[in-house]
Amino acid sequence: MIEFRNVSLIFDKKIVLNGIDTTIKKGEFVSIIGPNGAGKTSLIKILLGLIKPTKGIVLIEGLTPKEYISKHKVSYLPQQTSINWSMPLRVIDIMLIEENLRAFTVFKKPKKHLIQKARQVLDLFGILDIENKYLKELSGGQKQRVELGRCLLKDPEILVLDEPNTALDTVFNEKMYNILVEEKLKNNITIILVSHDIGAVSRFVDRIMCLNIKLHCSEKPENIDYVKLASALYGSTTNIVIHKNGCRSCQFYKTQ
Ligand SMILES: Nc1ncnc2c1ncn2[C@@H]1O[C@H](COP(=O)(O)OP(=O)(O)OP(=O)(O)O)[C@@H](O)[C@H]1O
Ligand SMILES: [Mg+2]
Repeated sequence: MIEFRNVSLIFDKKIVLNGIDTTIKKGEFVSIIGPNGAGKTSLIKILLGLIKPTKGIVLIEGLTPKEYISKHKVSYLPQQTSINWSMPLRVIDIMLIEENLRAFTVFKKPKKHLIQKARQVLDLFGILDIENKYLKELSGGQKQRVELGRCLLKDPEILVLDEPNTALDTVFNEKMYNILVEEKLKNNITIILVSHDIGAVSRFVDRIMCLNIKLHCSEKPENIDYVKLASALYGSTTNIVIHKNGCRSCQFYKTQ
């Protein structure tokens, strides 16, 4: 279980997060939504021990984030890519970079079963056909698929994704959510996904956390009052439309 206990953050005298008090259960798929500057990235950086809250604490299974991460596998896909795409590496090399570095120091090739596993993940993300392409040759969406694949390859217990789908096409975006739900069910992974894609997340996640400095709600998607949410997060003039199966424009979209 992840516990946020009265977490507040101040940057340059500005309140970025105020009294965040909530828990995320093991194996839960949670999405954090909120407008630009709401504190979403800051909150997950606190969860990962990358920044210290001004007040309050985060505990993961009773440990501080740093203690937990030193003992358990946690994958993080940051909002801004951490990969240098101009490195002269191929897709398969970057998938196995940790293994490649280890193998290099002991003058061995990466183990066959690891290469096979990396290729399975590439296949899952629909990019096995580009395994030998160089990183600098990839499109934006292909880069995002590689990053997502790397996150899953690690077999994480906790997966933290900060807007992982900004460059994904509609069809693969849907596939990504299905992959995440499947992984969660199969391996009991806790998934925390930051997104602006309220309509899509509400169809896939167990809970939506609505953040704008304060935590405005933390509910199952079906219990969320989207009118109240729109005014709390985005201002009273905004409408949020959640598309459901049977929605005519969604049907139209599917047949394109
Ligand atoms: N290192 C920093 N120093 C000073 N202020 C910061 C820093 N990082 C973030 N902020 C400020 O904290 C606030 C929240 O930023 P954060 O990146 O958490 O927002 P966000 O909800 O992730 O937004 P977005 O949807 O645009 O990614 C913003 O006002 C931002 O300017
Ligand atoms: Mg952000």
